[in-house]
Amino acid sequence: MSTRTYQRWAPEHWGEYEILDSGDGARLERFGELVLERPDPGAIWPRQLDVATWDRSNAHFEPTGKSTGYWIKHGAASERWKMRYQSKRLNLTFQLEMTKFKHVGIFPEQAENWEYIAENLGPKDRFLNLFAYTGGASIAARSTGAEVTHVDAIRQVVDWTRVNMELSGLDGIRWVVEDALKFAERERKRGNRYNGIVLDPPTWGLGPKGEKWRLEDQLINLCEAVAAIVEPGGFIIMNTYSGISPTALETLWSRLLPSASSEVGELCLTAKNGHSIPTGSLIRLKTKA
Ligand SMILES: C[S@@+](CC[C@H](N)C(=O)[O-])C[C@H]1O[C@@H](n2cnc3c(N)ncnc32)[C@H](O)[C@@H]1O
Repeated sequence: MSTRTYQRWAPEHWGEYEILDSGDGARLERFGELVLERPDPGAIWPRQLDVATWDRSNAHFEPTGKSTGYWIKHGAASERWKMRYQSKRLNLTFQLEMTKFKHVGIFPEQAENWEYIAENLGPKDRFLNLFAYTGGASIAARSTGAEVTHVDAIRQVVDWTRVNMELSGLDGIRWVVEDALKFAERERKRGNRYNGIVLDPPTWGLGPKGEKWRLEDQLINLCEAVAAIVEPGGFIIMNTYSGISPTALETLWSRLLPSASSEVGELCLTAKNGHSIPTGSLIRLKTKA
């Protein structure tokens, strides 16, 4: 029987982002100059701060469906603003926006992965970000001097990443608006290899040509392609917000890359009061050199 311990990772270097409180199905968070309240069905505990504090937020998100809704601003909050992430290794600036999907263009817990990427990549290394969204991992990788390929199905989020790249004083990311599975399979056929690969596949999605992405049907194909295009001695980071457990991630990857070393666990955010909020499952693999 395996007695392996799982990790709990949480970013430690945020100055401009913090969780002020959470509970009763919501989070109260500060993103730079704005404090926002938004739903988080995973927050199954009671809140700690009083109603008056929650009501002082600059805006709250009102859901209308499973994944969409709208923001109600309390006063003159701007709908577009900037936030900086600074650590010993990284100095990144993001443009944020209140979107109808309850997100603001950043998954702050991912800063923990940005640090790993910055630590494990060097100039001229090749880095691939699949399902890359607004590109936190892409710009963290690019700031090490690595050659970065950023793949997402939506042109608008790729344009948004370009803004983040430029605000961070960087250039030269290769943009690919394509279905992530198609791209990874094509790279496999071409024999292209990467020293670092990040994948964050959603439960469902659409490629730019209407290709249906369904995690349950296509995850194995995607992971097989990724396993084939990682360089010996390279790393893979797989994050998921879709309810796959750390144990399942571990079993999946031990079948695909049995000789790789791995760390597996949960990615979290630590609130101001010290409580941890789980955000998803994470595995990091290093292949044999
Ligand atoms: C959960 S987000 C990833 C978040 C990202 N890892 C980050 O840290 O910012 C999922 C992304 O997958 C993209 N996507 C969905 N289906 C896709 C597909 N078939 N091919 C490529 N990208 C896809 C979406 O446009 C979205 O940007």
